[in-house]
Amino acid sequence: MPKAAVVFHSQTGWTRKVGRLIARVLDAEAHEIESAPPDIETYDLVVIGTPVHRCGPSRKVRNFLKGKTFQSLSFFCTYSLFGGISCLLTLNRLAQCRHLIHGLDVRFSPVEKWKKSQDDLSHKRERILEYVNFIEREIRRPSQEENGNR
Ligand SMILES: Cc1cc2nc3c(=O)[nH]c(=O)nc-3n(C[C@H](O)[C@H](O)[C@H](O)COP(=O)(O)O)c2cc1C
Repeated sequence: MPKAAVVFHSQTGWTRKVGRLIARVLDAEAHEIESAPPDIETYDLVVIGTPVHRCGPSRKVRNFLKGKTFQSLSFFCTYSLFGGISCLLTLNRLAQCRHLIHGLDVRFSPVEKWKKSQDDLSHKRERILEYVNFIEREIRRPSQEENGNR
């Protein structure tokens, strides 16, 4: 696996929980956004997680993206009611990278949050693992550029 990191902002723990699972399965580093490595732009793959705030990414994630150009980049977000897709669309627009990988929105409804403890992601696990599989396939796929050079 290339050098990879999952970087997330989380206020109440849900995005962190998903981010840690993604990092574990991807065999990638996991970092809170405040302590992301300074050379993060050199990583082969960066996956960035955000809570949905007012139908978009959190201010911390917007600020983190400013002025950075990544190699392969993907986003995920967690939300409770609506705005997951619009958050991913905003992130795709803000992203500067060589290779943008389709992102993942994970909804934890207020009822789910009330019923399930954060230690139990089992009800979302399958979708998250599918997402990680998708990222792994995308990373292995030769880029358009490389195809063109053949
Ligand atoms: C300021 C603020 C704005 C939010 N806006 C939305 C929203 O627009 N749509 C939504 O579904 N959830 C919204 N939420 C809920 C969070 O997106 C949701 O609880 C998320 O899973 C929290 O992630 P975290 O635990 O990693 O902080 C908002 C929460 C906060 C604190």
